[in-house]
Amino acid sequence: MSRPSAAITGVHAFLPEKILSNADLERMVDTNDEWIQSRTGIRERRLLGKGLGTSDMAAPAIEKLLKKTNTPAESIDLIICATVTPDMPFPATANLIAHKLGIACAGFDIGAACSGFLYALTTGAKFIESETYKKVIVVGADKMSAIIDYQDRNTCVLFGDGAGAVLLEPNYEGVGIMDSILCADGAGAAHLHMKAGGSVKPASHETVDAREHYAFQDGRTVFKFAVTKMAEVAHQIMEKNQLSADDVKYLVPHQANKRIIDATAKRMGVSEDKVMLNIQKYGNTTAGTIPICLWEWEKELKKGDNLILAAFGGGFTWGSVYLKWAYDGEA
Ligand code: UT7
Repeated sequence: MSRPSAAITGVHAFLPEKILSNADLERMVDTNDEWIQSRTGIRERRLLGKGLGTSDMAAPAIEKLLKKTNTPAESIDLIICATVTPDMPFPATANLIAHKLGIACAGFDIGAACSGFLYALTTGAKFIESETYKKVIVVGADKMSAIIDYQDRNTCVLFGDGAGAVLLEPNYEGVGIMDSILCADGAGAAHLHMKAGGSVKPASHETVDAREHYAFQDGRTVFKFAVTKMAEVAHQIMEKNQLSADDVKYLVPHQANKRIIDATAKRMGVSEDKVMLNIQKYGNTTAGTIPICLWEWEKELKKGDNLILAAFGGGFTWGSVYLKWAYDGEA
């Protein structure tokens, strides 16, 4: 029998209940609802409480995913967690998640920032396609509030906390992950990074005083690259697979800025009704955005639907995945 493709056979998400609205932010920094909505499309975002970490969002998302797909936790072979906000520098958040699920399985983290879910999904698919594993969990999860400076209006309005997880299983019917293009250019690091807390500049009184343990972003430069690269790579994967706009059921874009998403849809030639957009509710949850979208749109999806996933983020990293959805959503 020929090698299987890797199909997403279930998806679930976790969003914390606490809402941080644009009105709340107006009371914290010099900003306003009109600026935030017109520049980004964001109205509100979710925040996880103090003392909780990324695994506290990923584990419940996976628990619900296992329940709805009738998958025993012990049958999971591998957990890949895409995150830039691990619970701690080590061990990997994937291991902590497995422990919270009451299992021990292979696991590791992938740090590709906002493109993290696409990198993790592509990696997870390889383990299925090579018949190494039968059940792989790929989770994109970030507690961005842990690395956001709520005194910096340039970044604090943009990000939120959230997690989304998918189950990957072998498929022999021609659906699943069809293709992927992953790109990175470390020259972009200067424009989007966290200055301290790594091996170059470990935490010290000085780094804390200088507020260097927060995400730094030169928004204008990142925007310029994001708008070009995300549109380019989404268009490229369509060309490579001879897909026209009519063939595409949905664009599933990373949710960083509505203007970047609009530019990507335009380049692909797909209309607004074919774009998954929930940035207004959750802001940018980094590795979480794409699986959270898949979860919210799951009911609309039918077996065989062509989806184009696309992202751009820190690294710089960017990429695109073309997949054929593997099941009919529960109407
Ligand atoms: O997911 C990871 C990848 N990240 C992204 O893709 C984000 C890419 N960047 C962006 O989405 C946009 O650049 C931002 C939303 C961050 C900013 O929008 P912009 O249209 O590029 O604004 P700007 O940076 O050009 O700033 C315009 C003005 C500036 O004032 P001056 O210098 O013109 O006087 C900012 O200081 O807006 C000011 N500004 C704000 N004003 C009110 C910046 N942040 C705020 C704010 N509220 N929160």
